[in-house]
Amino acid sequence: MEAILGQIEAYRKEIEAFEIGNAAQLEEYRIKYLGTKGIVKALFGEMRNVPTERKKEFGQVLNDFKQFAEGRYESARDTAGSSPAASASSIDLSLPGDPLPAGSRHPISLVRNRIIGIFQRLGFAVADGPEVEDDWHNFTALNLPENHPARDMQDTFYISQNPDWLLRTHTSNVQIREMEKGKLPIRIICPGRVYRNETISARAHCFFHQVEGLYIDEHVSFADLKQTLYFFVQELYGKDVKVRFRPSYFPFTEPSAEMDVSCFICGGPGCRVCKQTGWVEILGCGMVHPTVLENCGIDPAKYTGYAFGMGIERITMLQYGINDLRLFSENDVRFLRQFTGAV
Ligand code: PHE
Repeated sequence: MEAILGQIEAYRKEIEAFEIGNAAQLEEYRIKYLGTKGIVKALFGEMRNVPTERKKEFGQVLNDFKQFAEGRYESARDTAGSSPAASASSIDLSLPGDPLPAGSRHPISLVRNRIIGIFQRLGFAVADGPEVEDDWHNFTALNLPENHPARDMQDTFYISQNPDWLLRTHTSNVQIREMEKGKLPIRIICPGRVYRNETISARAHCFFHQVEGLYIDEHVSFADLKQTLYFFVQELYGKDVKVRFRPSYFPFTEPSAEMDVSCFICGGPGCRVCKQTGWVEILGCGMVHPTVLENCGIDPAKYTGYAFGMGIERITMLQYGINDLRLFSENDVRFLRQFTGAV
């Protein structure tokens, strides 16, 4: 009896030292101790050789040992079973862990979120729409009928499967879709990716990102447009920023304008960013053309509205002094990790 108790003690030490570092060793362990011809089973077989008055004591020792052997198996299975390399005994818990580098937001996302945040505070809702669009929502409804020369302002990717489909050239398609729903008033901004068939260079890419905005209600005026956009750039560049509106042309707005802000780098005298003019162009805007309202089933005699659109890349480049558009889509972490904070 004493001999067998000593033997069990020795097995315990053996189990403690048993190296289970991979699935094969785990199986070896299982067969040796817990298998049908294993040590635990064999020890239970010894029961009949134990004197009756010590059977109870021996039974307890055996059960204890069995639990111990199974416990070792279960904890080793959690590590060794799933990763062949890891072994409970080969892990040095005192070593420092592998650092997981924290990611950072893409600069386009940072600026987009900032723009969205400003307009949301003014009560604009974010609206979304398809990037593969039909001709109606990207062009015709926006007062750009077929063969209209203004279509050349936006070189377009067409889908060869169906000549009516294209990659949207602006997010104005979302505005059309929103107006077609017929629920007024509308106060939305439409952030998203847009596509234009341009030769890739430092200043042009085949896709970029926009935020466009639309407000339609009774009595909306150009004064509302100016005040809203003025508030927007003050939030973006600070209270001292000045704005100016230059007459422009878009088929879907009348009157139309380009909005410039006073150069936030030099503050006026002229520098490289503003090309020595003191002004930086940041968006296009105007009052929604009555034909566009009619195309969407809205009565232009009752409702008016304004729209605006800006390129996020352009604002981001100006903001951070980035001089090559391609950097945004090359995914070079040395570039991307520089933009960790808010704009
Ligand atoms: N859709 C125009 C573009 O992509 C931008 C714009 C939107 C201009 C709304 C005026 C009004 O160029």
